[in-house]
Amino acid sequence: MKTALITGVTGQDGAYLSELLLKKGYLVHGIKRRSSSFNTQRINHLYQDLHTDNANFQLHYGDLSDSTNLIRIIQETQPDEIYNLAAMSHVKVSFETPEYTANVDGIGVLRLLEAVRLLKMTDKTKIYQASTSELYGSDQAVPQNEKTPFYPRSPYAVAKLFAYWTIINYREAYGMFASNGILFNHESPLRGETFVTRKITMAVAAIAAGKQQKLFLGNLDAKRDWGHAKDYAEGMWRILQHAKPDDFVLATGITTTVREFARQAFAVLGIAIEFSGEGVNEKGIISAVSNTEFKHLNEGDEVITIDERYFRPTEVDLLIGDASKAHRELGWKPTSTLSEIIAEMTNNDYNLIKRNI
Ligand code: NAP
Ligand code: GDD
Repeated sequence: MKTALITGVTGQDGAYLSELLLKKGYLVHGIKRRSSSFNTQRINHLYQDLHTDNANFQLHYGDLSDSTNLIRIIQETQPDEIYNLAAMSHVKVSFETPEYTANVDGIGVLRLLEAVRLLKMTDKTKIYQASTSELYGSDQAVPQNEKTPFYPRSPYAVAKLFAYWTIINYREAYGMFASNGILFNHESPLRGETFVTRKITMAVAAIAAGKQQKLFLGNLDAKRDWGHAKDYAEGMWRILQHAKPDDFVLATGITTTVREFARQAFAVLGIAIEFSGEGVNEKGIISAVSNTEFKHLNEGDEVITIDERYFRPTEVDLLIGDASKAHRELGWKPTSTLSEIIAEMTNNDYNLIKRNI
């Protein structure tokens, strides 16, 4: 039985990866942060009472800002594979908490690598680092692949750049099996509620259910390469099963604007919207409602308004990835289309709101 340690186990990707590794027969250890309210909603269904014999999913309190804690957990759990998913992962929030973001997303990775080295586990333990398409920043080449230069545009991306190179440095300096997955945006019904996709699908559900009037958004022109988190968890695992440590882009190769994502999400529930106006004056207006359940919605209702507070000091305008290396060397390919993802997320949020969750 292989043993995996997942940092960031309570996040979107942590939940999908835990499910995947448990299905593959791994003993899975996860690091969760202490918080004053429950933060394990995404993994509660996997939880096993510690008193159960041979519980194969075990949680440990920890934090990437605490070296001694990481050393102790790694020593106790003796992982064959570490998946470092923990991060302050919100780009906009990183402008407000830059020092914390650098500490956790950048130095945190160094702490993890040093812990493995100090414990003399460099030959035993493989490490996956959650690198990101945000590293590309300003769109320097289209599409972006493993050879495209980086130009980070946020404290988050700068911290992740430090982490990316630290992984490569430890691979070269100490022969560690340390790999970067440069993942483009991936979404799901488990996506954090302040990322734009989930913010949109939750608002569409609330507007349809008569519980919210408007959705306030920032830059509608931003383009993202959106895939499904479940597919990307499979890719993370494949990266660590590869014959040698290396860096891989995971992406769909298709890019879509935030505006189009919102249009499609409303359409899932039978609400057609059209956009008019420009810049901060752009609005999303209902042009037709085919679902007869929604009697409170009328043609002409304004349901999307721009709020400049959601603009970023420096924006990443266009992301579109070329995952041909992962396809060629890992046999990895995304299986969900964006319209399937939008339908899954919107229907899920509508069902939740109808059940009053
Ligand atoms: P997420 O839902 O925000 O989850 C982040 C996880 O990190 C949560 O479990 C969070 O704990 C934990 N965490 C935050 N700060 C921590 C700290 N100081 N110490 C320990 N744990 C901490 O993010 P995600 O979407 O699953 O993404 C997983 C990783 O992939 C992140 O590193 C992200 O930057 C990277 N990434 C994501 C995408 C994407 O599109 N999703 C794309 C590229 C890269 P709480 O639950 O307690 O907050
Ligand atoms: N969050 C948010 N909220 N974003 C908005 C909004 C809004 O109201 N309105 C427009 N946007 C735009 C943002 O300006 C950005 O261009 C785009 O929507 C996507 O924003 P997010 O969903 O917050 O994701 P992100 O692309 O900044 O970052 C995500 O993907 C990265 C990989 O490229 C995160 O998951 C990062 O952790 C990840 O590394």
